Amino acid sequence: MIKESSQFEIKNKNVLLRLDLNVPVFKGRILSDFRILKSVPTIKKLLKNNNKVIIISHFGRPKEGCHDDSLSLEIIINNLENLVGEKITFSKDWINGVNFNGNNIVLCENVRFQLGEKQNLPSLAKQMSTLGDVFVFDAFGVSHRKEASTYGISDYLETFSGDLLKNEIMNANKLLTSDKRPMTTIISGAKISTKLTLIKKLISKSDNIILGGGILNTFLMAMGHEIGNSLVEKSFIEEAQEILNSSDAPKLIIPVDVMVSSNAAFDNPQNRDISVVQSNDKILDIGEKTIDRYIKVISESSIIFWNGPLGYVEKSPFDNGTIKISQAIASSKAYSVVGGGDTIPIIEGLSLQDEFSCLSTGGGSLLKFIEGEDLPILKKLGMHRL
Ligand code: 3PG
Repeated sequence: MIKESSQFEIKNKNVLLRLDLNVPVFKGRILSDFRILKSVPTIKKLLKNNNKVIIISHFGRPKEGCHDDSLSLEIIINNLENLVGEKITFSKDWINGVNFNGNNIVLCENVRFQLGEKQNLPSLAKQMSTLGDVFVFDAFGVSHRKEASTYGISDYLETFSGDLLKNEIMNANKLLTSDKRPMTTIISGAKISTKLTLIKKLISKSDNIILGGGILNTFLMAMGHEIGNSLVEKSFIEEAQEILNSSDAPKLIIPVDVMVSSNAAFDNPQNRDISVVQSNDKILDIGEKTIDRYIKVISESSIIFWNGPLGYVEKSPFDNGTIKISQAIASSKAYSVVGGGDTIPIIEGLSLQDEFSCLSTGGGSLLKFIEGEDLPILKKLGMHRL
């Protein structure tokens, strides 16, 4: 059932193609079309071989069994048509069969509206499999989910891995197996709970670890620093302390200063030395001296992995650290891998996307892959972490 061969072998077929078109949207506007853009070469390649393409994808996390206009995939159709350069038929009711209506591509409505998608209901997977002659899985971003459209279909239909997926795995494996040194890992984001395994996994492999966001605050608190009203996960203080007491602790580059605000509107930004943070301050970014330190570390690195913005990027000037770090990585000669949906729009906003070695379409999936978890469909496709 599973084929690990080139998609060029797929000719004159109706191809059921699972993509991850789960793009960030705010007030009806697509904030980043990165995932759509990355999916286009596979679509074009399939069309070139006289195939017809039936695209399925999830979008957001709707309540199953109900239609929700705010999570309709129709929002991406114009963008997708422009990038592919062809008219595309949108199919709202597709589960019992699609009509191409004279076009070569059908985009099906949000697969997560289907009852049984999340729990990988066999009857749903089987029904979906009847839509195509073959199945191509090219949705790395959702490869950590064992759902009907990401896993179950491959029980019923000849399955191929897509080129984007192969590329993502190759790049992540390159990061994991590279013997380039020094290696710098930058892990940031609101919650340490979601990234602790990653930190533990990468700390022994890395020469430098840079932390940011709520994760950093948890470490600062574990070190005994005042962090005021900053975002923190107190239940992880002990685990942070264990890392701080381990032999890998010197690899952590701890900030010397931070940007704080002490009011609810976050409109009185102040750069503070880490030792003078006040009890009513909220840490919202790294400080100027810290940025300079981090830039130096980055410029001396040969390999860099980055996940998560370093500050509260939604409000200037607390996006300064993330912007400066993006620019530093972009101008370094290091092999750089960036993952996570929050970081890519910032890099795109700075027009720096071509300056990185690899921008991954994976968020959670990339983290899980790096952590060493077996991702269900990848295991089935025989694609492994090295
Ligand atoms: C993502 O945005 O990380 C992927 O599309 C997976 O989405 P999910 O976390 O809702 O499964």
